[in-house]
Amino acid sequence: MKYYTQFENKSLADQLIQKALEYKKAPLSDNNLGRGKRIGLLFLNPSLRTRVSTQIAASNLGMESIVLNMDKESWALEMEDGVIMNQGKAEHIRDAAGVLGSYFDILALRAFPSLTNKDEDSEDFILHQFAKHSGLPLISLESAIRHPLQSLADMVTIQEHKQKEKPKVVLTWAPHIKAIPHAVANSFAEWSIGCGHDVTITHPEGYELDERFTQGATIEHDQDKALANADFVYVKNWSAFNEYGKILCTDESWMLNEQKLSQAPNAKVMHCLPVRRNVELSDEILDGPRSLVQHQAKNRVFAAQAALSELLK
Ligand code: CP
Repeated sequence: MKYYTQFENKSLADQLIQKALEYKKAPLSDNNLGRGKRIGLLFLNPSLRTRVSTQIAASNLGMESIVLNMDKESWALEMEDGVIMNQGKAEHIRDAAGVLGSYFDILALRAFPSLTNKDEDSEDFILHQFAKHSGLPLISLESAIRHPLQSLADMVTIQEHKQKEKPKVVLTWAPHIKAIPHAVANSFAEWSIGCGHDVTITHPEGYELDERFTQGATIEHDQDKALANADFVYVKNWSAFNEYGKILCTDESWMLNEQKLSQAPNAKVMHCLPVRRNVELSDEILDGPRSLVQHQAKNRVFAAQAALSELLK
């Protein structure tokens, strides 16, 4: 595998889930695999979990990792080819990625969408520019449209907690105060459908996700109906995709709380974090026995370790 940027197939997903579970039992079992190798963790956007869990994963495999907060500590990057660079951007992606390609064995990149240029965001333009001009194996730390390390950690968490072979998994839209990218929701849908779960997606009218990620899911605009008998409820805000990047709904009644789960007594609740408490999800759920959010965050280490181990092979 040269790129870890998306769900590929169920067989590989199952293999990665098993590998992550093995690393959870014995984190240092492969601590020679990355010896002498160096990974560059490039952040164009903020992060807590992804940054730290990927560094720990690299360390567990014996790799050196160097973090570069490119949004704050590096030159502003020009991404477009053929541009006359007489404005604010000081370095071209061709040059920066070429240099970084000579320093590292693997690159890892976080590059959020603009939420204004739908075409560029939809084709993961920045991720592909880094891959093309660095020439290195690349791992996505969340791109414009996907968050595959989060999704792998989520699949590991479902695997650990599921009580039936094909659990009912509900992805529910939640309110938020800002326009939020689609990456986590897209990626969760892509992986959960791909792993064979019974997936329902519920959101207000106008919040349809890109159909590339939702083929095979049931779409239900009635949240209460969607939540009935759920085994797992994944809570996430996203901005509109068709009216790209817009906030169309601020209806607080979409926030998940215990009362909404009365028809889903066994449902476990998931969120990738960071979460806006009492906006997206109630305190009672986050601090109660249904919540899997800390399990998901812990599993980020072993998901990253599994993905990195594939790239190192
Ligand atoms: N869930 C997640 O990716 O968290 P960070 O944005 O803090 O890395």
